[in-house]
Amino acid sequence: MSLKISPARSLPAAVDVAVVAIASDKCSDRALKARKLPAAALSAQGFTGAADQVAFVSDAAGRSVIAIGVGSSKSIDDNRLRRLGAQAVRAGSRSKRVGIDVLDLIEGRSAAEMASGVRALAEGLVLGSYRFTEYRSDPKPVALTAVTVAGVTGKPATDAFAQGLKIGDAQNFARDLVNRPGGDLTPAALAQEAVKLARRERLTIEVLNLAQIRRQKLGGLLGVNRGSTHEPRFVKLTYTPRAPKGTLALVGKGITFDSGGLSIKTGEGMMTMKMDMGGAAAVLGCFAAIRAVAPTCKVVGYMPMTDNMSNGDATRPGDVLTIRNGTTVEVLNTDAEGRLILADALSLATEDAPDAIVDLATLTGAVEIALGGRIAAVMSNNDAWLDDVESAAESAGERMWALPLPADYRPFIDSDVADLRNISKSRGGGTITAGLFLQEFVGENIPWAHIDIAGTAWSEADDAETTKGGTGYGVRTLLELARTFTPRRR
Ligand code: BES
Ligand code: MN
Ligand code: ZN
Repeated sequence: MSLKISPARSLPAAVDVAVVAIASDKCSDRALKARKLPAAALSAQGFTGAADQVAFVSDAAGRSVIAIGVGSSKSIDDNRLRRLGAQAVRAGSRSKRVGIDVLDLIEGRSAAEMASGVRALAEGLVLGSYRFTEYRSDPKPVALTAVTVAGVTGKPATDAFAQGLKIGDAQNFARDLVNRPGGDLTPAALAQEAVKLARRERLTIEVLNLAQIRRQKLGGLLGVNRGSTHEPRFVKLTYTPRAPKGTLALVGKGITFDSGGLSIKTGEGMMTMKMDMGGAAAVLGCFAAIRAVAPTCKVVGYMPMTDNMSNGDATRPGDVLTIRNGTTVEVLNTDAEGRLILADALSLATEDAPDAIVDLATLTGAVEIALGGRIAAVMSNNDAWLDDVESAAESAGERMWALPLPADYRPFIDSDVADLRNISKSRGGGTITAGLFLQEFVGENIPWAHIDIAGTAWSEADDAETTKGGTGYGVRTLLELARTFTPRRR
């Protein structure tokens, strides 16, 4: 599909449908007529410009018009523009050529605000057109082939549009990885995706196989992989700009399928567990658009990859694993496997002494109980770094909410036989105790944030830029974090 901007303020004549954004305070008959919009037809459909309203009408010249409500013009931010872009391509998907008129919304913005709005709109266009058809024998082609956004000029906005398309593509790449079945996207296959990405984006990559993972003493990853037929992988990806200013480490959970292991899940509990590599997918998605964003810091990704299965010699409840950094862990529930592979990854990241670490993991079902499916949880050992992560998420339009890491909950993961146990002794607070477990593997002086995306990595329904299935949550936040990263005392 071709997605373009045009400097002309009015929509090109050669479109099959015009999508117009209408604010609720600019929806009077007079305001609509001034824009040559069919006021009577719109009001007959009850269209008021309220946010997320969609109406299909035609104008005096007989051209098809899709009106999309955006709410009060004072409330229009980048998130609204991202939603609008997605709603426009969804509503226009049955036409061939769609023109979009959003001038009303972005006029009067400063050049920088205009650019970020156009970037968000472009993201929305790409995200809203996502479809996962790899496994369809007859994928029905979408009619829509060309989208033109009218009235966008100037280098900042033009560059921002191109950047938004790349960011959207990167998030869609993460969605593809999450949506691919666990039986096909094995650890080796996921690592191969990273290799392809590294070649394309000129990144440095290291892939550890089973023998190398043994030599590196990644005991958490080996323990989880013990019940599997498939070899594990550990992928380290590095982006190095000219004269890097500091290093940002990104860690992503890469469980290609989580059956629970011997502490087996229910049939229903397993249905979506191909998504358990959503953290690694977000990190890979970030690297897919990293050159478009061109951070001035070095960015290093650490991704442990395995499935969590049960064969005759799988890790048993009661077994003790020794993590890369020497910490011993009593595994009392083999379904709390994410923290075991992340323990090795955080240990390795810590050894490289980055200026900050952020990890993403589909870690606990509890996070969805606490915050639902649209808000991730973030935990940190450093308030200034937490602020940075929250600001990046806010600018990127990905919602997250901070949970504490209270010291008095730490004894809940004390083991009777080893240094730690992998599940809490106490009821409740499962997201927090998982965060406290991870904290044990992070160097004390390294600012670190942990984002639990178990609720947000997967969606049961389409909604504007969010698509059913893998969401690619985290890609935009990581790119924004990398783009704005400056090493400093935190
Ligand atoms: N991958 C799951 C977490 C998860 C649950 C992700 C639902 C997405 C949707 C994780 O490995 C897990 O099984 N966690 C356990 C931890 C428990 C055994 C302490 C959980 O949340 O039940
Ligand atoms: Mn699990
Ligand atoms: Zn898991």
